Amino acid sequence: MTAPLTALSKVKPNDPCWCGSGLKFKRCHKPTTDRVGAGTLTPRRPVPDSIASPPWAATGQGSNRGESDVKSADVIDRMRRTGRLAGDVLAQVGAAVAPGVTTDELDALCHQITLDAGAYPSPLNYNGYKKSLCTSVNEVICHGIPDSRALRDGDIVNLDVTCFREGVNGDTNATFFVGSVDPESQRLVRVTRECLELAIAQVRPGQPINVIGRAIQDHAEGSGLGVVRSFIGHGIGETFHTDLAIPHYFDPRAVKKLVPGMVFTIEPMITVGDWRHRLWDDDWTASTVDNKRTAQFEHTLLVTDGGCDILTLRADGHWSGDGAPIPG
Ligand code: MF3
Ligand code: CO
Ligand code: CO
Repeated sequence: MTAPLTALSKVKPNDPCWCGSGLKFKRCHKPTTDRVGAGTLTPRRPVPDSIASPPWAATGQGSNRGESDVKSADVIDRMRRTGRLAGDVLAQVGAAVAPGVTTDELDALCHQITLDAGAYPSPLNYNGYKKSLCTSVNEVICHGIPDSRALRDGDIVNLDVTCFREGVNGDTNATFFVGSVDPESQRLVRVTRECLELAIAQVRPGQPINVIGRAIQDHAEGSGLGVVRSFIGHGIGETFHTDLAIPHYFDPRAVKKLVPGMVFTIEPMITVGDWRHRLWDDDWTASTVDNKRTAQFEHTLLVTDGGCDILTLRADGHWSGDGAPIPG
């Protein structure tokens, strides 16, 4: 039986259900939307003067200094170290994911681990962003701001970590299960992770950028899932986001060829339903328009002569997050 649309909006939780069951609406056909709501923020976490901070720590402006797509050997060396650090920070924060833990507690952990490693948490004050980590729960696509909301059994949460050390950034994220997660969400997370794996397998010199999006879109849509268009992968280095654009869908115009020394992220956001987003009032948090779930994985990649290196692998050579057996 389908609810008449006009009726749904008028029925109150304690009214008899429209279906005639005699039950209260809230006990019968009331959709369990249970959307992620905004909580409260803690004050800005301090960074000691001993940490070498990027320009935006002071200015709040995300800079793009026209950085080259192709990096020098020296920048690459530093990016390998900072990338590995980001992979390790993500693993450590991910290990703390559990029912009852607030996203702010995860931010505090990310902040402290990053500082202890002599690095600056790149998100902090980047274009005015208030925290050191992005925590995107359930229908939140990306840029969720850590707050007082406690994770619940059955949630999925993406943790997006970016570290700045030795003058360069490493950017990586993964989606984690909170307790036991429903089968549809498990499949979403697994397919999203596979999308990133398939995209990485396409990265080698001579390939046009759009092979990346094609691999992702084919796998996602072939699995009945959607691909977010509004947020894309990006060049990265001394700047957090350069203007090198990496769409996660097939864009016929993205014909620039990959060359050795290029460094960029691939970070597909895949949806169970509609791929379009809406922005929360905080001007950061992007959620799906239909409030259905979405997942994401991200790595920072270096194009090599024969393919690519994943710069944001953990020191043990693996990657974090749920949804598939650990590769390798
Ligand atoms: N880490 C995100 C990305 O993958 C960017 C976060 S911007 C922030 O590009 F300001 F929210 F941190
Ligand atoms: Co990124
Ligand atoms: Co990121």
